[in-house]
Amino acid sequence: MSFRTLWFEDGALHLLDQRRLPARVEIVKARSAAEVAKAIREMVIRGAPAIGCAAAYGLALSADDFDDAREVLLAARPTAVNVRWALERLAKVTPRTFGALKAEADKVLEEDLAACRAIGRFGADLVPDGKGILTHCNAGGLATSGYGTALGVVRAAVASGKKCAVFADETRPWLQGARLTAWELLQDGIPVTLLPDVAAASLLDSGRIGCVVVGADRIARNGDTANKIGTYPLALAAHAAGVPFFVAAPTSTLDPRAATGADIPIEERAAAEVTHLAGQRVAAEGVEVFNPAFDVTPARYISAIVTERGVARPPYTETLTITGALR
Ligand code: MRU
Repeated sequence: MSFRTLWFEDGALHLLDQRRLPARVEIVKARSAAEVAKAIREMVIRGAPAIGCAAAYGLALSADDFDDAREVLLAARPTAVNVRWALERLAKVTPRTFGALKAEADKVLEEDLAACRAIGRFGADLVPDGKGILTHCNAGGLATSGYGTALGVVRAAVASGKKCAVFADETRPWLQGARLTAWELLQDGIPVTLLPDVAAASLLDSGRIGCVVVGADRIARNGDTANKIGTYPLALAAHAAGVPFFVAAPTSTLDPRAATGADIPIEERAAAEVTHLAGQRVAAEGVEVFNPAFDVTPARYISAIVTERGVARPPYTETLTITGALR
């Protein structure tokens, strides 16, 4: 990888500032749980596995104030279950000192990278050779400790010699596809074609796409999957066009406490993300805004869920348990 998303150095969590990419490469340093939570809320760092890793370091940084730190981090963004997963993992650490908690956060980070590489290996086998791969949002190295989930599948497929043109939805309103996925793939020398979200159905219908691969923020026991807003319509369009639709995510994204997608909390974000473009108002003054950050794709539209433990196929209530992905 030609960049680092997050790392701990000199007593601070260092975060590549994803609000500034691709125009500027800047680092934000966070020295407490409150500072890490602010960075997560404001999208300095984003992507479910990456914010799980960041939250783990945030808790270590405020070890002296463990319970309050945990609450502030948990509240930062509600949909990605990786945050809760990481904090619960650190809660089992004894003693609750900075050193012991930081060592566990290091493990969370290292294991996430290993999981992404395994997801890539399993997922690459599913990718048809000689056809396009369409992805949404950014489920890449920027959204994880490195390598990525959906983009891990892309990286592994390309590395295995498969000829697959990559297509990225721009991903309104925050433009993770245009700003982040395009940037990180081009940094690694992987060509990518950008399209407006609304062009995805036509592209899928054209026969040029062999599969869709997306990440996830939370997967329920039945396979219903919350991911960036716009994932559900993409799954519907893929289903209509007969194109396989794959979700790639580490097991830290599976929520054993969510039976179905109805149990997944969906974050709603500020109206200004929709009414403004690059700081300029584009919407009529006074208009009401609906701005959910995520949607839930019903399991019936998902052809397979790729985790670091293997590939689960429907019915997910059985297969996610059998692969050991849900315990
Ligand atoms: O709002 P974001 O940018 O945090 O949303 C990110 C996504 O929806 C990703 O697809 C998901 O977190 C998986 S990242 C490997």
